[in-house]
Amino acid sequence: MTAITRRDFVKDSIATGVTVAGATSALSGAETPSRGGLLKIVGISCSPRQGQTTAKSLKVCLEAAGQVSARVETELIELAGLKINGSLAAGIPLEPGEKDDFPSLIPRLTDPNVRGIIIGTPVYFGNMSALCKAFLDRCIAFYQNDLALSNKVGGVLAVGGTRNGGQEATVQSVQVSLFCQEMIVVGNGRPHARFGATLWSGAEGGVTKDEYGMTTARNLGRRVAETVLRMPS
Ligand SMILES: Cc1cc2nc3c(=O)[nH]c(=O)nc-3n(C[C@H](O)[C@H](O)[C@H](O)COP(=O)(O)O)c2cc1C
Repeated sequence: MTAITRRDFVKDSIATGVTVAGATSALSGAETPSRGGLLKIVGISCSPRQGQTTAKSLKVCLEAAGQVSARVETELIELAGLKINGSLAAGIPLEPGEKDDFPSLIPRLTDPNVRGIIIGTPVYFGNMSALCKAFLDRCIAFYQNDLALSNKVGGVLAVGGTRNGGQEATVQSVQVSLFCQEMIVVGNGRPHARFGATLWSGAEGGVTKDEYGMTTARNLGRRVAETVLRMPS
């Protein structure tokens, strides 16, 4: 990646729909790592359906993360209802009057206290949701400029309607974006140590009754938190 200047950052950010205020926040997030005790882990639910199986699974994952240490604080962000225009990532401008909520997410992601980010997505035809892809594509603003997500710990959770509906493929697909952001990507750790959290919403009684999947969600949360705690502050 070529060296970038602040002017390039602002120019590119405008092209990708990031406000200058947001750009400043992203830059300061990269330049001023927190020295305090708080370690925040944010879960991002990329289902267009608010509070449904992806959000429920992420809550379990985040609860497990929070149980690792009193220093770990968690927050769930749901993208449901937000307008995130993926085409802006390629510089296609918004239509006049069109709403775009991505800039409002920037300070919540680049906050120096945010040390871990867990992306949760439903499986749509063996891959992530369009909302998830649009969100990850818009994170190109960081990739092109200050890599504000660099060295944050990343984990991925996928929920499918069938047991083997493409959850692992989906997890891997999301992980590629996180690698490109220089994030420290982890799987769901011991005892099974697989790619991430893989859940089945078709289980009798709903996703929270998918015992195997819930175990992967809890293990992913624990693994992200353990890794965050090992990172120098
Ligand atoms: C367009 C579409 C495609 C889907 N494709 C798959 C799939 O390939 N594999 C699978 O297991 N489930 C698939 N599903 C089911 C969803 O992954 C499942 O219902 C999931 O729990 C939805 O998450 P949510 O409750 O958070 O919205 C699909 C659902 C939709 C709407």
